[in-house]
Amino acid sequence: MTISCYGAPSHQHIKDSIMSSMSSFSSELSNLPKKPIPGQYGLPFIGAIKDRWDYFYNEGKDEFFENRRRKYHSTVFRTNMPPGPFISPDSKVVCLLDAVSFPILFDMSKVEKLNVLDGTYHPSWSFTGGYRVCAYLDPSEPKHTSLKSYFMSIIAARHDNFIPLFQQCLYDLFFELESQITTKKHSSFNSLSDKMSFNYVFRLFCDKNPNETKVGSNGANLFDKWLLCQLAPLGTLGILPKFLNLLEDLLLHTFLLPFFLVKSDYYKLYDTFYKSASSILDEAENLGIKRDEACHNLVFLAGFNAYGGMKATFPMLIKWVGLAGEKLHRQLANEIRTVVKAEGGVTISSLEKMSLTKSVVYEALRIEPPVPFQYGRAKEDIVIQSHDAAFEIKKGEMIFGYQPFATKDPKIFEKPEQFVANRFVGEGERLLKYVYWSNGRQTENPTAENKQCPGKDLVVLLCRVMLVEFFLRYDTFRIEARTSTFGSIVTFKSITPKATTT
Ligand code: HEM
Repeated sequence: MTISCYGAPSHQHIKDSIMSSMSSFSSELSNLPKKPIPGQYGLPFIGAIKDRWDYFYNEGKDEFFENRRRKYHSTVFRTNMPPGPFISPDSKVVCLLDAVSFPILFDMSKVEKLNVLDGTYHPSWSFTGGYRVCAYLDPSEPKHTSLKSYFMSIIAARHDNFIPLFQQCLYDLFFELESQITTKKHSSFNSLSDKMSFNYVFRLFCDKNPNETKVGSNGANLFDKWLLCQLAPLGTLGILPKFLNLLEDLLLHTFLLPFFLVKSDYYKLYDTFYKSASSILDEAENLGIKRDEACHNLVFLAGFNAYGGMKATFPMLIKWVGLAGEKLHRQLANEIRTVVKAEGGVTISSLEKMSLTKSVVYEALRIEPPVPFQYGRAKEDIVIQSHDAAFEIKKGEMIFGYQPFATKDPKIFEKPEQFVANRFVGEGERLLKYVYWSNGRQTENPTAENKQCPGKDLVVLLCRVMLVEFFLRYDTFRIEARTSTFGSIVTFKSITPKATTT
């Protein structure tokens, strides 16, 4: 993949391309020819296994989608999605790969989001205390409205603590990063980031350092094991020789991993949250939500949604900024230091003035959306449109969007495969409606009636603060990066402290 922060399109070019694509969309969409959806599911059982093997072992994730897009000359087609037998009751999906058809998945009047968080299967409810937690509920279920409203109110109530608490957690991270680089000449960013993310989320909701609880410094590991057992059907270890593929496929993709493997870990976390988050659990009871149900929901929010999301997001952000190189680092440091000096500190309003820093965060979330899969079941017969055709999807069919293709749609984004740091500066902001990482457009907001991430603004804020605090301390850094089944793995090779003259 090529990375460029200098070859950015001009503002005029962006404006022209948006205007022309907008006018052509509106005139063309209504006249698009209706076509049957290409693609096939193959023989029952065998077709699903074949697609699973193509996806994990024969082709690979991105190639799986690219090969079918090319074969069918269409960004909308039928395929099976892993895991398939015996985990998924039905693995058939209609796959969407372009920016125009994808947003059907955000239309709650057209698609049902019941139990589709992980795709064509869901883990046993034992992983969540026997409850279907908020992220598995469709907005038409009254419980979704009450839980999501509750979450949005506890997040909003912690607003004043977002930045100062994150700064404290980052200082610890930077301290460890520097000392590891000094002693070992390298540092694994993922483990530092995970530890920092767990501390942040726990302290935000429990007003307490996890080290003062029985979870101690082990919180991130406990959540990792619990997450892995639920998400194993979607990944590969990626380290086994080919002849062990069959064994891996049997172990990870054929049967769900049972909850008892992580039961004691989960209840250690649950008990700790139960004891430490009493004030927000009191609030839940006042709203009519049972205390234990609220606590299982809180553990899921903290561990799956927030910690799990950060686990994918922060290394991804540092990877793209790191690979972009020294020139971008200088530009970011310059913007950040100038604004912080003029505004007298790192505040929501000073962050708003950092147009390059903001754009870099949006660009990272565009080029590598941390949660790449979205699913929804058609609530009725619907007609969807890609750039060049209309397709009918029948009531009950599963719709699946592979987001990295939608947000790298070449008909929307110029140089879609390149990391263009200033893509969203100035006029470029108009492209933010095509940034979908939060399960909604970047220009729209989460509500109790939709399924958009209620942590959307917090996540963008934390990514900005991470860059700001980084470039207030350091001039530049070098990393090595690779991609694993669940995201980016980043190793710091060097870090250059801020020159005293700057
Ligand atoms: C850090 C990066 C994060 C990413 C990438 C992320 C991404 C997402 C996505 C894609 C969804 C929709 C899943 C679906 O239904 O398909 C979602 C839902 C959700 N997220 Fe986030 N999220 C992040 C952080 C957070 C944080 C910090 C919180 C809370 C503090 C949070 C709370 C939630 C909740 C409760 C839902 C379910 C919403 C609903 O059921 O309506 N997330 N998130």
